[in-house]
Amino acid sequence: MAVNQTSRSNRLIIFALATIVVGLGLYFYLSYFQFQLPTGTHANWQKLPILIFAALLGYLGARALNAALFDFVFRLRRHYEAPTLVRNIFTLLAFTILFVVTFRFVYPTYDLGSLFTTSAIFGVIIVLAPQDTPGNFLAVITLLADRPFQVGDVIVVGQQKHTGVVESISWRAIKIRTFQNHIVLVANSTAAKEAIEVSPRDNLNARLVFFSTIYTDSPAKTIHVVREAVRDADNVSDKITPIVRIRGLGDSSIDWEIKYWLDDYAKYNDTDALVRQRAWYTLRRSGLTFAFPTRTLYLERSAPRAVTPGNEIADRLSAVDIFAPLSNDELRQLADATVTHVFAPGETLIRAGDEGSSMFVVHSGKVAVQVSDRAGPRKVAELTEGNFFGEMALFTGEPRTANVVAMEETEVLEIGHAAMKHLFDTNPSLAESISLTIAERQADLARGSERAAQTSLHETEGLLASIKRFFGLH
Ligand code: CMP
Repeated sequence: MAVNQTSRSNRLIIFALATIVVGLGLYFYLSYFQFQLPTGTHANWQKLPILIFAALLGYLGARALNAALFDFVFRLRRHYEAPTLVRNIFTLLAFTILFVVTFRFVYPTYDLGSLFTTSAIFGVIIVLAPQDTPGNFLAVITLLADRPFQVGDVIVVGQQKHTGVVESISWRAIKIRTFQNHIVLVANSTAAKEAIEVSPRDNLNARLVFFSTIYTDSPAKTIHVVREAVRDADNVSDKITPIVRIRGLGDSSIDWEIKYWLDDYAKYNDTDALVRQRAWYTLRRSGLTFAFPTRTLYLERSAPRAVTPGNEIADRLSAVDIFAPLSNDELRQLADATVTHVFAPGETLIRAGDEGSSMFVVHSGKVAVQVSDRAGPRKVAELTEGNFFGEMALFTGEPRTANVVAMEETEVLEIGHAAMKHLFDTNPSLAESISLTIAERQADLARGSERAAQTSLHETEGLLASIKRFFGLH
């Protein structure tokens, strides 16, 4: 609203200034040559600037009349919004009348009608006439005057559904660049007859992406996990939260749609694909299943398979330094208690500030540990196969200290509170080595944020005591 008012008052000021400049120009010109219109004896060329000044004044007058009539009388008084085309025709007519009157006044001896038939104006009309029917010509005027879309907008036009970004609008055709990087020219007369779907560039345009799940999956869980996975994908607008909803109950599936809004609509093909990819990963991680045809549905319906076989997990855990003291039996028990998750590149595994009651071991892939402080986001570490993270919240009960984001497709093993407590009971030294790692990482985080940072023995001991307290150990 405020912006509108400012631009309106700016326009008013420019309009007033232009009128003053042109009026003064006319006044000085008239007084310099001491014109006696229309009876004076000046040469025709001397009168031409008068006509130009007067034409400019006429144009400004026509615009003022237009604003007074359509903005003041119609919009404010009668609450009627006139179409742009009507307003433009009105301006054109008002200007023509003012121009003809001025012309007659300045050049009383000339006949404007005969001028038309002999002049270049007539030539222009002759050139335009055979271009196409007058319909085409009118179509151009309608398109340019109404401006239903602009350069940069995505449009779908015609029965063949030509889709692409508008590159230019000329007197003959609309030029569209399709998503296969082809150019399509749609004649204006065709465009005027066809329905055009416009997705304006500066508008939050939405897309729908579909998927199906089996009937035994929980809808509430599906909505939650898919929405969270989609909302932080690239080019998905954070101004409106994506909507995940059931669009139908099919023969063999619950059919879903994801509605999301894009920052840059011209990239919707890539973004649709990313949204589908996110849906795939999150369904897989959450134990939800894409629908199969009914006949194979129950054959396929088994507990979601762990991506990685158990002995491979035990091998991986045995290579993690803090688990070195564990016996083979304990490693196998721990492996049985882990849950495997797969994350797509760019997905967030842990958000700073969240509650957390499990830790993770990187089984394959790579993650980045990031923190945000006054200086902006900062990468603290990269963790690869055999490294672990998430232990700080698990062992201290504090909120997560950093974001952990997958840098490539990453498979992690999740270890919960109960599994760790069981290990602490039989391996008291475990708590010590973990508290040492936590103290080091805390020092790293503090160093970056310019807080006092020293890992003293005293601090580590404090940490150890609080871990023991948290896990109820003695
Ligand atoms: P937690 O606080 O539960 O969640 C974020 C995790 O990032 C944290 O546990 C650590 O596992 C990990 N982390 C924090 N700081 C560092 C660091 N300096 N080096 C490696 N990992 C870290």
